[in-house]
Amino acid sequence: MDQDNWDALDQFFCDQLLQPDLALDAALESSEMAGLRAINVSPNQGKLLHLLAKMQGARRILEIGTLGGYSAIWLARALPPHGTLVTLEIDADNADVARANLARAGLDSMVSVVVGAATESLKGLIDARTAPFDLVFIDADKKAYPEYLRLSLQLLRPGGVIVSDNVSRRGRVADPQNFEEDVVGLRRFFSMLAQDTRLTSTAVQTVGSKGWDGFSLTRLSSE
Ligand code: SAH
Ligand code: DHB
Ligand code: MG
Repeated sequence: MDQDNWDALDQFFCDQLLQPDLALDAALESSEMAGLRAINVSPNQGKLLHLLAKMQGARRILEIGTLGGYSAIWLARALPPHGTLVTLEIDADNADVARANLARAGLDSMVSVVVGAATESLKGLIDARTAPFDLVFIDADKKAYPEYLRLSLQLLRPGGVIVSDNVSRRGRVADPQNFEEDVVGLRRFFSMLAQDTRLTSTAVQTVGSKGWDGFSLTRLSSE
């Protein structure tokens, strides 16, 4: 019953505020055809990411966890003409689906999909002294969020923003007796956010077409 209500309200929000979009629809359809799990952000969450990137004036965006490129399309569309999105994905088949979806959306020149374990790819970007990013979206395996945070901070400009998906695990993150690896990783992630005095963070739980979940939002001090 709750899920039905959340679906109906998300449908209303999307009907009111989102335009029909062939490239985004095709991205979801081709992801489904390729057998990818439907764990992409919802349409209205995608537009939230897009708006956050716009508000941040992001010219360089880093995404950890590409899947079929659905959130990447939303984020890349927030970039100015010569902007860049780098998105990290461990699964080469997912990356192929994402590249095709990004090309169909006309975004292939702005986006590079990097295949490999994200910690290794992040270390590679750090070692290569890649230009700093304005916004990072963390959305890969939850157990590794602490490592993604630690490495992302080395790639983020002062005043940069980190948005992290799926920080609630249906409330299990708040249960100190829960030692599932995702939950443990997320609790450690929160304690890192709390302890780093350069960071200002909040987290918000959400309900909607993707169930009960949440995201966190962090800003790195510009001092
Ligand atoms: N951001 C996407 C959803 C990402 S789902 C969207 O909203 O459209 C999480 C993705 O992270 C999956 O595609 C999974 O293969 C990838 N992933 C999982 N572990 C990873 C790792 N260690 N390194 C890089 N990617 C990983
Ligand atoms: C999962 C991963 C996600 O990024 C998400 O948005 C929802 C679920 C998962 O691994 O279960
Ligand atoms: Mg997610």
